[in-house]
Amino acid sequence: MREAITVRNLSYAYPDGTGALEDVNMSVYEGERVAIVGPNGAGKTTFLLHLNGILRGSDGQVEVFGKSMAKVKRGEIIKEVGIVFQDPDDQLFMPTLFDDLAFGPINLGLKEEEVRERVKNALLTLGLSGYEHRCPHHLSYGEKKKASLAAVMSMEPRILVLDEPTANLDPRSRAELIGIIKELNEREGITIVIATHDVNAIPELVDRVYVLNKTVITEGTPQKIFSDVELLKENNLEVPEVFKLFEVLRCFGYNCEELPLSIEEAVEHLTRTVGINDGHFHLHIHEHTHDEVRKLRSKYEHH
Ligand SMILES: Nc1ncnc2c1ncn2[C@@H]1O[C@H](COP(=O)(O)OP(=O)(O)OP(=O)(O)O)[C@@H](O)[C@H]1O
Ligand SMILES: [Mg+2]
Repeated sequence: MREAITVRNLSYAYPDGTGALEDVNMSVYEGERVAIVGPNGAGKTTFLLHLNGILRGSDGQVEVFGKSMAKVKRGEIIKEVGIVFQDPDDQLFMPTLFDDLAFGPINLGLKEEEVRERVKNALLTLGLSGYEHRCPHHLSYGEKKKASLAAVMSMEPRILVLDEPTANLDPRSRAELIGIIKELNEREGITIVIATHDVNAIPELVDRVYVLNKTVITEGTPQKIFSDVELLKENNLEVPEVFKLFEVLRCFGYNCEELPLSIEEAVEHLTRTVGINDGHFHLHIHEHTHDEVRKLRSKYEHH
């Protein structure tokens, strides 16, 4: 499989001396969906800003589809890697949404007709058709988040980098955005990199997770990452609620080795268990059940 993003030994300190990244190594393959998780201040945003050259490390290398960022013009990188910022107000700055979406394609030197086509398609993808003449600063937060993604999609990038795409959205907007991101990946093969604290979205949204805390602590499938209690504690990470619920069920005698991470996985799991056991599954309370539940609670306490 071809590497879409290769990062080698990347370190970065802000001009005031704050060290944000230290010797970061990462590979993201073409067509993959990868999450970057880590506590507040871990360097996730700083890292993402290196992926299209907004920041450049004091040390190390970033390659996009095998091309070293140090050797190609920024314009080339911007065509390949689109970043949706954590704060939509950093993305949207023109008087109308049309202008914001047209800004990138115009700078690519595209003809007016092509620019209009791209803006139309991006608005359609995000369900924002009819919003072209709206002032971005008067949109609601959820609309601004979608508009930011539309502004990036009008550049038709092959790699999409999103910083906290689901934060502060209502359930419907959150589900819509997750659906759109998955579709862009599945239908158009766009490689996805997401920094997020939304652990409940991770199982359905990504194939692989990197834990970043200044440097890469580890990487693996969501199942592997969420099963490592010490790792979670040390890096201040949450686990999906479904996972916790099945851990509780296990204290009540539910038999499972791999705990489900999402509702879909839970349904599969329960169906399998019921199938094996003649249409039933058994829970029971024994003398240690409540002690085990208490231990479970303290396991997830963050101090
Ligand atoms: N412009 C800046 N100047 C100086 N230090 C900065 C700047 N931006 C970020 N930092 C520092 O760099 C470190 C990493 O910040 P960053 O925003 O990358 O973390 P993050 O993992 O994205 O956090 P969060 O989960 O809160 O979004 C923090 O210590 C932060 O205070
Ligand atoms: Mg951040």
